[in-house]
Formats: sequence, structure tokens, C-alpha cells
Amino acid sequence: MRNKIFVTRIIPDAGLKLLREQFDVDVWQEFLPPNREALLSRVQGAVGLLSLLSDRIDTEVMDAAGPQLRGIANFAVGFNNIDVAAAIARGIAVGNTPDVLTDATADTAVGLVIAAVRHFQSSILQVRNLQWKTWEPIGQLGHDLNGKTLGIVGMGRIGAAVARKLVGGWGMKVVYTSRSPKPEIDKEFSATRVSLEQLLSQSDVISLHTDLNEQTKHMISHREFAIMKPNAVIVNTARGGVVDQDALYSALKSKVIFAAGLDVTDPEPLPADSPLRELDNCTILPHIGSATFEARDRMAVMAAQNLIAASTGKSIPFPVR
Ligand code: GLV
Repeated sequence: MRNKIFVTRIIPDAGLKLLREQFDVDVWQEFLPPNREALLSRVQGAVGLLSLLSDRIDTEVMDAAGPQLRGIANFAVGFNNIDVAAAIARGIAVGNTPDVLTDATADTAVGLVIAAVRHFQSSILQVRNLQWKTWEPIGQLGHDLNGKTLGIVGMGRIGAAVARKLVGGWGMKVVYTSRSPKPEIDKEFSATRVSLEQLLSQSDVISLHTDLNEQTKHMISHREFAIMKPNAVIVNTARGGVVDQDALYSALKSKVIFAAGLDVTDPEPLPADSPLRELDNCTILPHIGSATFEARDRMAVMAAQNLIAASTGKSIPFPVR
């Protein structure tokens, strides 16, 4: 009898094909994620679990799976949905899909920067709602990006890719925060590592790229918005919880900052009654950062490779770090 893998959603064939060569693969077929009860029941007996960022994988899920569970492969680079410490303590390997989605996600961030700084959201609505009456000499004005300051909060792989695109395309100056100095980044972008306060007060464009954890939850709140420039735009392609959304709403509504572009919210999807939906200066995407055919195919292959290695007790090629 072949070992069982539970996959919590239909993912690209490139990954499913690899898994099906070796395992009995149970794929959740519905459009929406399995609810808790379904997850706990379907994971039973699996040696491997292929999860999405929207699945909360905690000790209850690990217990429900049973002691044969060897690996959890998240189909994402972020892994705040998994209790990694508990998994490792049980000898369950946990993997993710770094690098292959870096450019796709950075492209999303750059798209949001331009959308935010040039009023794409309200302009699109103007056309759609038949409110486009004439060419406006002083309406819908945004800001140039050339030569402005870009603040990267969390200079990792995706932050560096965003900097590369915005420095290469628009000659932006770069300041950044990171846990440790990054001499190669300083050199590549003539960038300066600064404190969060310095970054927020100096930047015209702020792009968030930190993990979500206890230290970073709501790291951008009322106090942080208050020190940003009035022309600042903030873009979040990391995790919604990094930003205090009530504070963001106030800052956008009262024009403490110019605009925001979000690919992530807290919670996801954004609730129907969220006031952020009503703002002209807030562009919101439904978490599509890595949504390219190329990136998702490669993510599926990496997740499958992680489970193939984990199931035989080998070290996995893409462990979370
Ligand atoms: C997407 O948000 C990811 O973590 O891959």
C-alpha cells in the first residue's frame, strides 16, 4: 500500500504529478479551503501534508494526522500559518517555497507602488462608474517616483528584488531595515541600513517585506503613520497582520499619508464591512503576489520535492529557515 499525502487544494499539475508517482494523493477538490473538521479528518494517516497559507497547521492537525506524519510542505514562502516549533519537536520536517516566487511577488509590489502613487484605484472606478467627464489639468494628480526615496522594511530576497526593480527603473534611493547589516545590499544599491523610525520619516515609498511574528505584528500602527511624510505611499505584499488596519484607515482617511497598496490584509479575505474598501487612496488586491503560471508551477514542484524527501526520512531540499 502506498503512503498517503493530503493536499489541501488543487495545485498545479507539475507538483501533483510528482506526488502521484509515489503516493496515494488525496486532493481537496473544493474552491474554498477545508474547514477545520474536514482538515482534521482528511489528514488522518498521511505521511505528508501539503498546506496553503490559509490553512492553520497546529498541534491539533499534527495529532489528527497521526505519528506517521513526516513532512509538512507549505505552498508558500511564508509559514506563519504553521506551528513550526511543534512540528520540529515531533520530528516533522517543515518546508516552504522560497526564491521561485521572489520576482512575481516583487512585481506585484512594484505594481502596487505605481497604482498607489498614481491613483489607479480611483481612476479605474471613475471610468467604470461613468464619471470620466473630461481631461483634467489638476485632477487625479500623483507623484513622480524618479529619484525619490524607497524604504524597504525587511531587506530579504523579495525586498531586494523590489529595490532592484525600483532603482533600475526609477533611480530611487534606498534605505532599509534588517536584523543584520547587509554589505552586499549597501554596495549594490548604494543603500543605507537605518532604524525603522528613520526609514519611515525619510521614505516616499515604503514597502513591507517582514515575516509576521510576535515582534512584527502591528509594527506599523498610529505612531508609525504619524512620522511618515504626507506624500508617503505604503505597500504591503508581506502579511496583513504587520499593519494595524485601523491605524492605516485613519492615516489614509485623514490624509496623514498619500496612499496605500495592499496585496495582503488581516483577515483574508477582507471582510465585507471593512472601511478600507471605501477609500479612494487604497488599492487592494486579493493576495496575488506569487500568482504567475511560472512561479506557481515551481512552487508546486518544490513542495512535492519536500514531501518526497520527508517521507523517506531524508533531509528536505527546502526547509523553512
Ligand atoms: C505568499 O504570501 C507566500 O508566502 O508565498
